[in-house]
Amino acid sequence: MPRMTATDTVRAELARAAGRPGGLAVLTGAGMSAESGIPTFRDAMSGLWSRFDPAQLASEEGFRADPARVWQWYAERRQGVLDAQPNAGHRALADFQQRHPGVMTLITQNVDDLHQRAGATGVLRLHGDILQDRWIDPCPRAQRGNCCDTGWALDTQPPVCAECGNQVRPDVVWFGESLPLGMLTAAEQAVDGCALLLVVGTSGAVWPAAGLAHRARRAGATVAIVNPQPSEIDDVAHHHIRGTAAEVLPVLLAA
Ligand code: APR
Repeated sequence: MPRMTATDTVRAELARAAGRPGGLAVLTGAGMSAESGIPTFRDAMSGLWSRFDPAQLASEEGFRADPARVWQWYAERRQGVLDAQPNAGHRALADFQQRHPGVMTLITQNVDDLHQRAGATGVLRLHGDILQDRWIDPCPRAQRGNCCDTGWALDTQPPVCAECGNQVRPDVVWFGESLPLGMLTAAEQAVDGCALLLVVGTSGAVWPAAGLAHRARRAGATVAIVNPQPSEIDDVAHHHIRGTAAEVLPVLLAA
């Protein structure tokens, strides 16, 4: 009797999870979009944080210190997202969701829109959306219920409100900032109730997102990781599939 591979074992777990509503939760990170040409953050040479200082580029302090540089950096990243296409991994997840309505909750740390462009719905975005804007400070007109629209801002770097000089920033979660509460609560409920948590393409270096794997395990779910490299949450997982998102997920999630 040939030994079951990790992929075989996780496919068996998936079949069980697919048998009930909310049976499967999926947590993705930057590795999910690496094969779409979007750089990860911490991969040795290619990772953004090996080339750029996150404190200067992904924090409110960094933005206030040099808004034009931060805005320019996000403008380049946005263009990278707009030029990218969902890969076979994104499509396999969206396809599984359509084949098993109500079974899968897709939670992502990614600020790109590749899951949605692949057809996935109800994606819980823990770290925001790089293609959306918001004001760096609360709009003074908001109290009177007519907050200025970021779309009206003057086309400067970054765009600035003609009314009150407020600056536009990308609608992503920067270091030191809280996650959108609704998203985090929904993600916690999903991992509390799932039979299987599939963790794809994350180093597990950033909390509270990484804590979802620990929470799922405590709640009695099976935790499986898809990552070509070891991650900081490997010890929480029952199964480790050493491969890439675009190679492994189509096989794992195939009908
Ligand atoms: N398929 C699957 N996994 C991959 C692939 C791939 N093709 N390529 C790389 N990986 C793995 C790496 O081995 C690494 O473990 O993806 C992981 C990427 O880790 P990070 O770069 O740390 O990205 P992530 O875990 O998403 O970072 C979390 O940190 O910088 C912040 O807000 C940012 O959301 C981000 C958070």
